[in-house]
Amino acid sequence: MTPLLLRPATRDDEPFLWAMLYEASHAAEDLTSPDALRTLPELSRYVDGWGGPDDLGVIGGTAAHPRGAAWIRRFTSENPGYGYVDDTTPELAIAVAPAARGTGLGTALLTRLITDSQPRYPAISLSVRAENPARRLYTRLGFTEVAGSEITNRAGTTSVTMVLRFQ
Ligand SMILES: CC(C)(COP(=O)(O)OP(=O)(O)OC[C@H]1O[C@@H](n2cnc3c(N)ncnc32)[C@H](O)[C@@H]1OP(=O)(O)O)[C@@H](O)C(=O)NCCC(=O)NCCS
Repeated sequence: MTPLLLRPATRDDEPFLWAMLYEASHAAEDLTSPDALRTLPELSRYVDGWGGPDDLGVIGGTAAHPRGAAWIRRFTSENPGYGYVDDTTPELAIAVAPAARGTGLGTALLTRLITDSQPRYPAISLSVRAENPARRLYTRLGFTEVAGSEITNRAGTTSVTMVLRFQ
């Protein structure tokens, strides 16, 4: 079996992160390609200009083929992400390519990202659709739901904010 590779996301990974953002945001429901994300500021802000000093991410797959990514980026109260809690807490985005889901890659990516972010940030937040099975993964790794955080998402259903606090 090809060994699973986990490595830090670099500036050069931006094209792959656009593809993973397309998955993470369920954009196929109303868009036709990752390129279309660039026209939507509420989604493009998670990837656009990736690689700044504050950005932190993990890419997973094989050396030749990345299959998934987990990354965090900080937002401010003037431009809050969907899962914004405060200016010091970066927000997570995560996706695995459809054919590679359910085999442990998402767990491995998020576990590594948590380890890497713990020395740098007080917490990580995320926004997840209420019906997304990924909530079980987040709960297993220590995220808890923020009371009263329900919002109506782009699909018109409910999303909740979850937070993992390090201190
Ligand atoms: C969520 C996701 C990143 C998890 O990666 P993965 O490699 O499938 O994860 P794992 O194999 O480590 O399984 C961990 C958990 O992921 C979730 N999961 C597994 N397969 C999934 C799938 N096909 N779709 C959605 N979530 C799935 C489950 O909660 C699973 O835990 P469980 O077995 O206790 O239910 C991946 O399934 C995915 O990209 N889903 C679509 C995009 C998405 O929803 N991103 C998160 C937005 S908040």
